[in-house]
Amino acid sequence: MRIDKYLAQVTDYSRAQAKKLLKEGAVLVEGVVISDPRYDVSATVAVSVNGRPLRTATPRYFMLNKPEGYISATKDRQHLTVMELLDEDNMEKLHIAGRLDIDTTGLLLITDDGQWAHRVTSPKSDCKKTYWLETADPITEEAKARIEQGIHLDNEKRPTLPAQMELLDEHSARLTISEGKYHQVKRMFAAVGNKVDLLHRERIGDIILDDELDPGEYRTLTSEEVSSI
Ligand code: URA
Repeated sequence: MRIDKYLAQVTDYSRAQAKKLLKEGAVLVEGVVISDPRYDVSATVAVSVNGRPLRTATPRYFMLNKPEGYISATKDRQHLTVMELLDEDNMEKLHIAGRLDIDTTGLLLITDDGQWAHRVTSPKSDCKKTYWLETADPITEEAKARIEQGIHLDNEKRPTLPAQMELLDEHSARLTISEGKYHQVKRMFAAVGNKVDLLHRERIGDIILDDELDPGEYRTLTSEEVSSI
């Protein structure tokens, strides 16, 4: 891999910063100054920057209390994105682990650790997501049973995995699912003839949305929260 790209991948430096360091003669590969950003490098060689052996980037993990009106994307021309709520370096390396719709609020996880993000979203890892929701029409016992059993949604090969639902009152419930199909909760309720008016994610696995976070605020995950996934 090109050394400028490599530096940007394994350290906190951006590609532009890496190029500048190379130009300044600050980068040594196996003790030799390398200034050409196209220089081919592998993970096994000893690289130092400013005399220090490579400082590899520590992965970052955040929870955000997503407000309504923001889309779960890194860039968008029309809408505000959740990334605009974060004030971090090297934003281009951060990704959303399990998106929420523009009008859904609550717990959103953001990280630069791709494998961890995969464990959050892959149905195979059975990482449960809990939502609080409010519906337009009363939620019947029959609808609850159908949603809990698994429901065949349009354009899906298999029915949804079994879910757990706690009825809170006629129009509201707490629903726990193990998948994250596109608009899944809204489609599950549409399939039983109802409509979700409000949707808020409270929990992912053992990570619970911190009630100290106002909508739009975020914090770093604790090491216990990170290792719970
Ligand atoms: N299900 C939905 O329908 N929307 C979300 O944002 C999350 C789950």
